[in-house]
Amino acid sequence: MQKSLPSSYYTAPEMFQREQERIFAREWFCAGREEDLPASGDSRVLEVAGESVLVVRTKRRELKAHYNVCRHRGTRLCDASHSDWGTTPTGGVMPGGIIRCPYHQWTYSLEGELLGAPFLKEDETFRREDFSLHPVALDCWGGFFFLKLELQDGSVRQGVDVQLGPVVGRTIRYPLRDLRSGHRISYDVTANWKIIAENYNECYHCGGVHPELCEVVPDFKLAGGSNLTWEDGIPHREGAYTFTKSGRTNRSPFAGLNETEKVRHKGELCFPNLMLSLACDHVAAFVLWPLAADRTRIECNFLFHPDEMAKADFDPMDAVEFWDLVNRQDWAICERVQQGVRSRIHQFGYYAPMEDPSLDIRNYVKKRLAPE
Ligand SMILES: [Fe+2]
Repeated sequence: MQKSLPSSYYTAPEMFQREQERIFAREWFCAGREEDLPASGDSRVLEVAGESVLVVRTKRRELKAHYNVCRHRGTRLCDASHSDWGTTPTGGVMPGGIIRCPYHQWTYSLEGELLGAPFLKEDETFRREDFSLHPVALDCWGGFFFLKLELQDGSVRQGVDVQLGPVVGRTIRYPLRDLRSGHRISYDVTANWKIIAENYNECYHCGGVHPELCEVVPDFKLAGGSNLTWEDGIPHREGAYTFTKSGRTNRSPFAGLNETEKVRHKGELCFPNLMLSLACDHVAAFVLWPLAADRTRIECNFLFHPDEMAKADFDPMDAVEFWDLVNRQDWAICERVQQGVRSRIHQFGYYAPMEDPSLDIRNYVKKRLAPE
């Protein structure tokens, strides 16, 4: 038995603030899918670690991210409430692909360069190239885009693949980049993001919490899941091969999977905020948006191959409905953990041996929150 993080890590606003600064502002933070902004001029306003970030698709069709802050007086450029269209009457991302500040009408390209400032002429104190929007680092992997607010070492920029480490190799045969969203569900969960990640990391709870899932994966009921090796994939019951109620589907498996992957299920927790569940025919991707010490929004995206989605009988709901059932069971139990953890009597919890992977979370968080 190993001690969990102290309860304050799950409940105290100060700890949450520290995580925002030390983890979510410094690490690559998964913020969406590349397909969310398909066309030049598309934009999204996203809040990462308390900062408003403007993500745009440029005229060169690249994704770029900027702090949502005018270089003139600091005005917020775009409203989150207009994120779908990105326009306000006098400011925001305007048709034609310029970003305009609603205050003094300074304009920027989608790339972030200052294009014009009304009635101002360039001179030695005002050179346009010195007034570009502050960039936020953006990198893509597997069709996801990731943002990084703060480059710890400004000189060396490490890509998201470095942060993902062995996940890249373990998922290499899944065509993540080609997949498209077939359905999305957003959940507001009254629990700390780490409780959700820890729950994702262990199957000790599956026998009690997920009776329907255990019908499809009977091994979840055995030995608290301690005999399962996620790297090799989780075996289903005889005749089942995917996460649906029947354990089967009319969708073909992804081309390129090996024989094991065609019949087993894999899962990856990608620190700090992406959880991937990989079936042979679909991927459930969970992006965690920590909102407060006790509140997390979970964007669950169901990804399928476009060839399957193009078929007349494509229907994602066999996977979606099954996942939604299992998800709600998980979120409900996570909320109960949050309720108990905030009790004065609870100083810390324990990880049983079959919950060992959660030690990674404990160590990951402790290391980053330690005094510098
Ligand atoms: Fe669960």
